[in-house]
Amino acid sequence: MDLKLTGKVAVVTGGSQGIGKAIARALAGEGCAVAIIARHKETLDAAAGEIKAATGARISAVVADMTKTEQVNRAIEGIVAEFGRIDILVNNAGAAPGGVLETLSDEDWESGLQLKFLGYVRATRAVIPYMKKQKSGRVVNLIGNDGIKHSYWEIVPGAANAAGQNLTLSLAGQYGRFNISFVAVNPGPVRTERWDGLIKAMARDMKITTDQANARAAASIPLGRIAEVEEVADLVTYLASERAHYVNGTMIEVDGGQQKPLMDAMRDKA
Ligand SMILES: NC(=O)c1ccc[n+]([C@@H]2O[C@H](COP(=O)([O-])OP(=O)(O)OC[C@H]3O[C@@H](n4cnc5c(N)ncnc54)[C@H](OP(=O)(O)O)[C@@H]3O)[C@@H](O)[C@H]2O)c1
Repeated sequence: MDLKLTGKVAVVTGGSQGIGKAIARALAGEGCAVAIIARHKETLDAAAGEIKAATGARISAVVADMTKTEQVNRAIEGIVAEFGRIDILVNNAGAAPGGVLETLSDEDWESGLQLKFLGYVRATRAVIPYMKKQKSGRVVNLIGNDGIKHSYWEIVPGAANAAGQNLTLSLAGQYGRFNISFVAVNPGPVRTERWDGLIKAMARDMKITTDQANARAAASIPLGRIAEVEEVADLVTYLASERAHYVNGTMIEVDGGQQKPLMDAMRDKA
């Protein structure tokens, strides 16, 4: 299937590693010019070089902190100045602390919402004027299944994700008349640097070892394993394309059918 992505301009926040890097690589492989945004220049430049070498695509590495409105606005302005337009925004830079109610501080809650939710708000707000002018645009929000499949050991990510999912569906209602469409993608566990951190927090809060926590995560997924980054990136690439433009104001899980209550049900068996 020709995804008709050749010549499109895509922005991937958090594109220097993990899922974001795999998405940037997949979009570049389909012929997009891609701007990747992250905070650490060295990792970002290395990712840009790697993707460029693998795909031959135009890649721009843009240093910005998605928790800072001015930096986000400047990054988006710079990308438009460089590429002339933005067809696709993939909001992906996110992290929210694991932990349980009695140990999470106000700062933990605020930091989770600050990046994982407000970071998506900031980037979307910055691209919308350009997409409105173009009368076309696609926003794919990489969120997470804990916004709809709740668990007590992921309450900050769960809250931030539920907010992002609501935002996605709400904005689809507002901007469709400008031919701008929105979709959310909800992964379950995916093998990345971030997953290693999450599983450590999960093990601590469930009072089990990290091996046991990993085993519980896999056992809660009917397919018996966590996802690889490419499995998420392939779906996002299709959704970013014109072919999927009509998939609007909705969300799609890519979590192997995970049933989170099974993780807790294994409490005595781990
Ligand atoms: N991995 C999973 O199991 C999983 C499951 C469900 C949902 N998700 C979601 O998928 C997305 C990607 O997760 P991942 O596991 O690939 O994460 P990751 O490996 O930790 O990568 C995070 C990326 O975001 C960037 N980033 C972090 N803070 C930033 C900030 N303040 N401003 C700009 N960029 C920032 C990082 O680069 P710098 O540190 O250099 O800024 C990096 O490029 C996240 O939104 C996450 O919530 C992940």
